[in-house]
Amino acid sequence: MPPATSLFPRTAKFYTYCLTSFLWTLTITAANRAGILISDTVVEPLASAEACLTQDERDLGTCLLDIGGGTTELVVYGGGVVRHTGAVPVGGDHFTNDLAVGLRTPIPEAERIKRHHGCAAAALLHEDVAIEIASVGDRPPRTIFARMLTDVIEPRAQEFLALIRDEMRRAGLDSQIPAGFVLSGGGARLTGLVEMMEQAFHLPVRVAEPRGLVDMPEQVEQPEYATVVGLVLYGAKARRTHALRSTNFVAKLKAMFAGA
Ligand SMILES: Nc1ncnc2c1ncn2[C@@H]1O[C@H](COP(=O)(O)OP(=O)(O)O)[C@@H](O)[C@H]1O
Ligand SMILES: [Mg+2]
Repeated sequence: MPPATSLFPRTAKFYTYCLTSFLWTLTITAANRAGILISDTVVEPLASAEACLTQDERDLGTCLLDIGGGTTELVVYGGGVVRHTGAVPVGGDHFTNDLAVGLRTPIPEAERIKRHHGCAAAALLHEDVAIEIASVGDRPPRTIFARMLTDVIEPRAQEFLALIRDEMRRAGLDSQIPAGFVLSGGGARLTGLVEMMEQAFHLPVRVAEPRGLVDMPEQVEQPEYATVVGLVLYGAKARRTHALRSTNFVAKLKAMFAGA
């Protein structure tokens, strides 16, 4: 019998799987009852990859990280096919919450200063500018320095990189992505994250620019729109494949009867 320590993660994984399937079924049922017909489902990072990765990257080996609010999802390509999908429990909101707690400021204010002045690592900070931030309650605003933001952000960024490294190692793919990382999702916009990852992994890293739609407005070419653009492309591709299959099926039937 396996020791209790090895049994637990498997059981936990099984429960997580059941819960995820249950929530997935509930979501589809809710959408159907609201009159929206769901014809297909796709794992989010696969949709993002559709809009963000080049064929070269997929062939050579690359990891797309979709850094959302609560989690980061990843998909690894190699030899033109998907080799692994996974997720780590850190996203952009963790940085915001750390700032809110660490600097005792409301969450919307923490989000604002993160976007405007946040930097992933102290070594990458260009200027230690003074920043005015709101305080909690009725207390007056205070002045802090950009360095103080980075002191809060950097440990979380280090944890994030360690989780990605562990996930890649567990999948046995840590040395299989010569084309490096592509970062999508709003969290990819954190200043300095690309440079920090390049230094930590010794691999090329770039922020995703979703492409592929005709007449796409420039504002949509931002990493946080990767999934949305990818879903449209994925849907169009699935429709083409379906149409092709139906045509092939009709052609086969015709050939059968012609031959009879
Ligand atoms: N300029 C920015 N700098 C740093 N983080 C950002 C920036 N813009 C958005 N984010 C972060 O991106 C996250 C949301 O990303 P998004 O892809 O929209 O999430 P989700 O897919 O989970 O809805 C939030 O945590 C937000 O703080
Ligand atoms: Mg997203």
